[in-house]
Amino acid sequence: SKLRMFVDELPDMPKLYGFEFVDGVPKSKSLQIGMFKKKWKFHKDLPPTPVFAYGVSRSKATIPGPTIEALHGVDTYVTWKNHLPLKHILPWDPTIPTAIPSNKTGVPTVVHLHGGIDEPASDGNSNSWFTRKFRDKGPTWSHKTYRYRNHQHPGNLWYHDHAMGLTRVNLLAGLIGAYIIRHHEVEAPLGLPNGDEFDRTLLVFDRSFRKDGSIYMNSTGNNPSIHPQWQPEYFGDAIIVNGKAWPRLTVRRRKYRFRIINASNARFFRFFFTNGLRFTHVASDSAYLKRSVVTKDFLLGPSEITDVVVDFSQSKSDSVILANDATYPYPSGDPVNEANGKVMKFVILNHTELDTSRVPKKLIQYPKAKLSSASRTRYIAMYEYTSDVDEPIHLYLNGKPYEAPVTETPKEGTTEVWNVINLTEDNHPLHIHLGLFVVLNQTELVNVEEFKDCMTKLNDADKCRISKYARGKRIVVPAHEKGWKNVFKMRPGSVTQILVRFSYIHSNSSYVFDATADPGYVYHCHILDHEDNAMMRPLKIIS
Ligand code: C2O
Ligand code: CU
Repeated sequence: SKLRMFVDELPDMPKLYGFEFVDGVPKSKSLQIGMFKKKWKFHKDLPPTPVFAYGVSRSKATIPGPTIEALHGVDTYVTWKNHLPLKHILPWDPTIPTAIPSNKTGVPTVVHLHGGIDEPASDGNSNSWFTRKFRDKGPTWSHKTYRYRNHQHPGNLWYHDHAMGLTRVNLLAGLIGAYIIRHHEVEAPLGLPNGDEFDRTLLVFDRSFRKDGSIYMNSTGNNPSIHPQWQPEYFGDAIIVNGKAWPRLTVRRRKYRFRIINASNARFFRFFFTNGLRFTHVASDSAYLKRSVVTKDFLLGPSEITDVVVDFSQSKSDSVILANDATYPYPSGDPVNEANGKVMKFVILNHTELDTSRVPKKLIQYPKAKLSSASRTRYIAMYEYTSDVDEPIHLYLNGKPYEAPVTETPKEGTTEVWNVINLTEDNHPLHIHLGLFVVLNQTELVNVEEFKDCMTKLNDADKCRISKYARGKRIVVPAHEKGWKNVFKMRPGSVTQILVRFSYIHSNSSYVFDATADPGYVYHCHILDHEDNAMMRPLKIIS
């Protein structure tokens, strides 16, 4: 039987404060957050689902995990503790590069703060994994407690698992949560909707369930003789927001701020309101926009974040559905259906409210990225390797497996131009740890097949004369995606040029760089099934 939509209330996740006031002055705080196996109710009519969840204790653990509130300029320390059982709740594939702990030590995990500008040893490198009670650890593991500097722009981040080869299953199991950095001096004057009721985080993802409530995942690989379990993309039919399938929220006739995080493995969302209500974008990923931008829909790839204000006083109806019409896989897959085309419902109270919040035209202007400041140019090519039945075996960046020696070694404090060449048929959301970037342009390639032939032979964009091919249609980068981003959607058959800044040593910080504990960073496609096999490469910052 099908699950009824809009019968569960939208939950708010518990909050954890990464700072405390001592004599009125904000000070650092140390948090302990565990990972627990427990059962979670995704829907009134669905039996409880076994999940892995973050929380301060098993009983307080939630899906998604608690929202961490941090203050700009105040360090937050987190000791992430693995309390997971010996066996995973989902099938995984040992034939892809995977964290495989020694016998009976548990499920490998490691936490990455997505969007965080932090030292490498606190970044959650995929090889810095650890199991239950730290019984086993990955090759680059160095310490139990991570330090988050919160020196960056105020904005939206999220934390999630990043263990080598297990990221797709650890996130499917539930290891995700939101993290907000606030900077009152800068944000309060904007006058945006605020407070727990009017400023909300929405973590959105898709899942499929069996009748008994357990998460359904196809456990037979697309090339079973090569990879017995791995599938190129996970898609589920139920759309989950803050841990409930198709929830509903009763709202007042006024403005609300929604920080929307796409925490799906592979699903893109093109969000829109069924009654034409608009979104006013104020930030994207972890940074504010220079100016607010109004749209009637927007595309959000896996791991992208958008921050919008919705004014329900403009609604002509007394309820409205937040819907989705992005094909899956995006862009050349199936159209949405009755189930995955709906996200959640807003029931709008009738009487008009006094609303003193605003959405200013001018938001926050960060220092401009100057092309002339770029110290080097790189090409990053995306490939798919297919079997004779035309199914992907694995996906690589620059034709290299993750284990191949590091090739991207920017200098601390510098800016680089990366030309990302997508030679596949899918759109790949590329995420760069540490790097904050602006999208300069996106251009379709002409004679893609000819260029691809050359690239698969020589693997060298210059020798293959990329300039001869990068002269197709110019794709317009939407205004709400012109700010600083940490993920961007790399269109198929196109080259996307981005300007990336690499810097984790903040001018006003006393950080002492310890190269012996430097596992480096990574950059990767954020379709988790691609990332795991192995559309991910090391990134090392040198001084
Ligand atoms: Cu959101 Cu490398 O991750
Ligand atoms: Cu991808």
